[in-house]
Amino acid sequence: MVFDENIPGWLNVNEVNSLKEICSLVPNNSNVIQVGVFAGRDTLLLSHELSSCTIYAIDPWPDYRLLKDLQVQNGRRLRLSDVQKIFQKEVLPKCANVQTVQGMFPADLNIKENIGMCYFDTWADSNEYNLYSVAWDLLLKGGILCGRSFSYWGINVITAVRRIGREKNVCIHLPPGNSLWYIIKK
Ligand SMILES: C[S@@+](CC[C@H](N)C(=O)[O-])C[C@H]1O[C@@H](n2cnc3c(N)ncnc32)[C@H](O)[C@@H]1O
Repeated sequence: MVFDENIPGWLNVNEVNSLKEICSLVPNNSNVIQVGVFAGRDTLLLSHELSSCTIYAIDPWPDYRLLKDLQVQNGRRLRLSDVQKIFQKEVLPKCANVQTVQGMFPADLNIKENIGMCYFDTWADSNEYNLYSVAWDLLLKGGILCGRSFSYWGINVITAVRRIGREKNVCIHLPPGNSLWYIIKK
């Protein structure tokens, strides 16, 4: 199953088909960077849809004790050990092409070549523009810069994506009915 609601997370059922379509645009055999893994709900889907690629899944996995709403929503106490445990036990064994990086993008990511996609799902309160700019420079021509939270709760994301679109003179694609966005690097 590539979408598993038992894995805590934010990717929702309306986003599954759009994320699959975005994955279909990614150059075969490239390296993919996923920024913001949490328990790996979307890692599962990326791994399955991008089977020819290697996915570098990066997250600092800090202590998530403050996420009370999510604890209630999933009926699970989400602490650092729980989130990592879910990722390691329930997601990673199904994802042979995923390598995990515990840290922050871009500081802790060493892979810099043959990057076919950078997918962002951070808390949408980081400096998104800086993150996307670094990723843009890493991407191959024809590669995909994309992410979630292009919506009212992700105003930083909207501002940053629009700025990248303007500066690089590229089209921003917004699949209908969800918060995904993507840009193709021409
Ligand atoms: C919204 S959650 C990710 C949810 C997940 N993608 C899903 O759909 O279930 C955001 C995650 O981004 C991580 N994060 C935030 N900024 C980051 C950065 N610069 N580099 C790596 N991870 C980051 C946080 O630790 C958190 O786990």
